[in-house]
Amino acid sequence: MLLVPFVLVAYGVLYALAYSIPPLPESWQRPLQEALSRDSLDSWLEREEDIAIDRLLDNVAPGGRNVRDAAPGTVIASPSRHHPNYYYQWVRDAAITTSTLVDLYAEDPYSFLSSDLVPILDAYTVLQYKLQHSNNPSGSFDDLSGLGEPKFEADGSPFTGSWGRPQRDGPALRALTLISYLKAYNETHSSLWDSDFGDEWFRPLYDADMPADSIIKADLEYVSHYWNASGFDLWEEVEGLHFFTAMVQARALREGAKLAALFEDPGAAAWYALQARKLEEELLPKFWSERNGHLVETLDSPRGGLDCGLLLGALHGTERNSTATERFAPYSDEVLVSLLALARDQRYRFPINSAPSDSSNAESEFSLLQGTGVGRYPEDVYDGYGTSPRGGNPWFLCTSSVAETLFRTVEHAVAVEQLPISSRGMPFWDALMENSSTSLEPGRTYKPTDPEFDEVMARLRRAGDAFLVVVKKHTDAEGRLSEQFDRWNGYERGAEDLTWSYGAFLQAVRARQRL
Ligand SMILES: *[C@@H]1O[C@H](CO)[C@@H](O)[C@H](O)[C@H]1NC(C)=O
Ligand SMILES: *[C@@H]1O[C@H](CO)[C@@H](O)[C@H](O)[C@H]1NC(C)=O
Ligand SMILES: *[C@@H]1O[C@H](CO)[C@@H](O)[C@H](O)[C@H]1NC(C)=O
Ligand SMILES: *[C@@H]1O[C@H](CO)[C@@H](O)[C@H](O)[C@H]1NC(C)=O
Repeated sequence: MLLVPFVLVAYGVLYALAYSIPPLPESWQRPLQEALSRDSLDSWLEREEDIAIDRLLDNVAPGGRNVRDAAPGTVIASPSRHHPNYYYQWVRDAAITTSTLVDLYAEDPYSFLSSDLVPILDAYTVLQYKLQHSNNPSGSFDDLSGLGEPKFEADGSPFTGSWGRPQRDGPALRALTLISYLKAYNETHSSLWDSDFGDEWFRPLYDADMPADSIIKADLEYVSHYWNASGFDLWEEVEGLHFFTAMVQARALREGAKLAALFEDPGAAAWYALQARKLEEELLPKFWSERNGHLVETLDSPRGGLDCGLLLGALHGTERNSTATERFAPYSDEVLVSLLALARDQRYRFPINSAPSDSSNAESEFSLLQGTGVGRYPEDVYDGYGTSPRGGNPWFLCTSSVAETLFRTVEHAVAVEQLPISSRGMPFWDALMENSSTSLEPGRTYKPTDPEFDEVMARLRRAGDAFLVVVKKHTDAEGRLSEQFDRWNGYERGAEDLTWSYGAFLQAVRARQRL
């Protein structure tokens, strides 16, 4: 009998509460909303990371579901065999993908996953020797010209159709991937280095006395002799000297010089170091355009120069956690202002970007914190299947690369415990700090103890997350990533299950996890 009045009273109190308490002020709601959406991004990233690893490995032989007939060690660009046909091994894409696999192996060499990876990495190494020594349309091994060949059939034989060749980034990227594999393997096999068995293991990769038989040394010889010759860019369209290519070449020569010294090959070490310095001092500075206020991807090109290759060059052309200041690293002023200029261009270029989920922001000024689907470059007309008069689309790998660049900026500032702000970088920092009560002063170096430091780091992370939210939004229900997403309707298009889309996503997520 007492229960009913109690329930009524309780109901009455709740009713009164619900209607009398004013809604939380907006400043209280925001952190809650942010925490909720961060949670859902976090859990999505966790699921998508596993999917990306599985789907990436599907495209890698031996073992991959999509490459049953490919030579062991092959990394195909996509399982798509027509409309478009990407069922080939590109030296560049394969090296970048394999370097992601080396990272996974190095992180936990004794994991279940790593036991699957070692046979793949070994097969990749063996296959690269075969590709290097092939006679192909770019040339032969004798004068090393054949190393510039960009693309091979999935069975390891040369592709003989007409193509944009040579491309000179491949040997540099392959050298970098194999150097990191050699080091990771050496670290987990501590007695290998001084053993006879070790000599056998290292010889195919680096042997001072038998350059023709060592894959890394052949690539370093190629890079050190051809870095100032023109070739096709990473998108295989323009001939000239390119930022992406020069950046990965410079890094290969720097790391190659250190490796040569460890293998007691002092003449080669000095030669690679000299070429690295020449490249860094004579060629790299030319890619900064004071007039445009950003880097340009190709020298003397009719294009404006903004290009996702600028971000990729910074990401792949500098050591990941070096505390040294390397020219045009992801955290450099030049790269950050180029990122801003590219993101701004792409935001207004693609209708999909001006349909934000939060319509209250639709009319707001550009905000860096608002994620944007980013494509290759403004003048792009490739729509994933052919040339389109309506122009290109955003790409998954470029959108992920924006996020990775921002995360690596945080990682670096935290590692070196400083954030130098120069006037060259101000457009980026102003955009990042939009509407903040704190502003950054050019010429100042902020330390972790300064109140501004934490706010800048938090905003960089949120900006990076905003670009991953864009990737999330356009990923299909099974977590699959193709090459592009449509500029009008946001649906995936172009080659399906693009290996590099998964690799770039994984690199961005892992950079985020390291923070
Ligand atoms: C391999 O590891 C040994 C220590 O186990 C080290 O002395 C050597 O320098 C390493 N070699 C390379 C190329 O990293
Ligand atoms: C390559 O270097 C030489 C000598 O430094 C220079 O004369 C030449 O113009 C360079 N070639 C290119 C394509 O930059
Ligand atoms: C990267 O950073 C970690 C932690 O700061 C350090 O232990 C490691 O030696 C670094 N690796 C390289 C290659 O510098
Ligand atoms: C910044 O402030 C302006 C004016 O108050 C507003 O319209 C805009 O949406 C704000 N931007 C952000 C990112 O909050």
